[in-house]
Amino acid sequence: MRYEGKSVLVTGAATGIGRAAALAFSREGAKVMIGDYNDDAEDVVAEIKGEGGTAAFLHCDVSKGDEVEALVAAAVKNHGGLDAAFNNAGIFPPEKMFAEFDEETFDRTIAINLKGVFLCMKAELTVMAKQGKGAILNTSSVGGVIANPGMTPYIASKHGVIGLTRTAAIEYVKQGVRVNALCPGFVRTPMTEPWFHREGFLEAFLPTSPIGRPAAPEEMAGTVLHLCSDEASFTNGAVIIVDGGQTA
Ligand code: NAI
Repeated sequence: MRYEGKSVLVTGAATGIGRAAALAFSREGAKVMIGDYNDDAEDVVAEIKGEGGTAAFLHCDVSKGDEVEALVAAAVKNHGGLDAAFNNAGIFPPEKMFAEFDEETFDRTIAINLKGVFLCMKAELTVMAKQGKGAILNTSSVGGVIANPGMTPYIASKHGVIGLTRTAAIEYVKQGVRVNALCPGFVRTPMTEPWFHREGFLEAFLPTSPIGRPAAPEEMAGTVLHLCSDEASFTNGAVIIVDGGQTA
């Protein structure tokens, strides 16, 4: 039980990668605080409690500073501090050519995917620096290190997450806080589910994937738990790609 008694915060845990990570943290003994704007996250809390774990949910839109502050404060108050935070909430807007994107879609994507991570980190770093310990893991994407056509705001937001990660990593490590970024490749979740129903999509995707398949969300959890634990005590400012070799 690597996380016995530890307080862990996960955003975007109603579904997908965040849900799988929240369950995995709990199975290793963590007390899990979930922040999401989808109240289905209550079901994940019920699932964790059903397995004998400890979890709580606070409705939170990560693009709103006051809601994020309340979330981090609730984790600290309910679970006695904050050992690790997995800032994972994100959206993926429908694909378009660069010049076809409207300002509103661009702003909303940046507000959730980039500012949301900034707001979470700001509140978490304040708590963790005071404690003198903590680990933060931000979900970027392979789209944070390479471009993909049709995804301008998403790609920009995920590149930005790496900038936030690296800056905080060098500023806070002497205060006992490590900050890293996870770059998943193609993972089958509600976010990507529509792609599976697009004609010809899998036939086009599979030859580009050395492993020859998308990941299950659970396949991200092992890396998430490792990076947020003391096993990763020398891993800081790292950008960890977990993509089955797609960008190799
Ligand atoms: P998902 O759609 O299953 O999960 C996203 C979660 O974030 C949901 O629970 C959603 O309610 C929550 N969320 C969205 N906007 C929010 C907001 N403003 N405030 C609070 N919660 C919010 O998708 P998935 O795939 O699990 O995505 C998780 C993260 O992984 C995202 O940051 C995504 O960009 C990233 N990612 C996903 C990949 C994939 O292939 N599925 C690949 C690379 C990165």
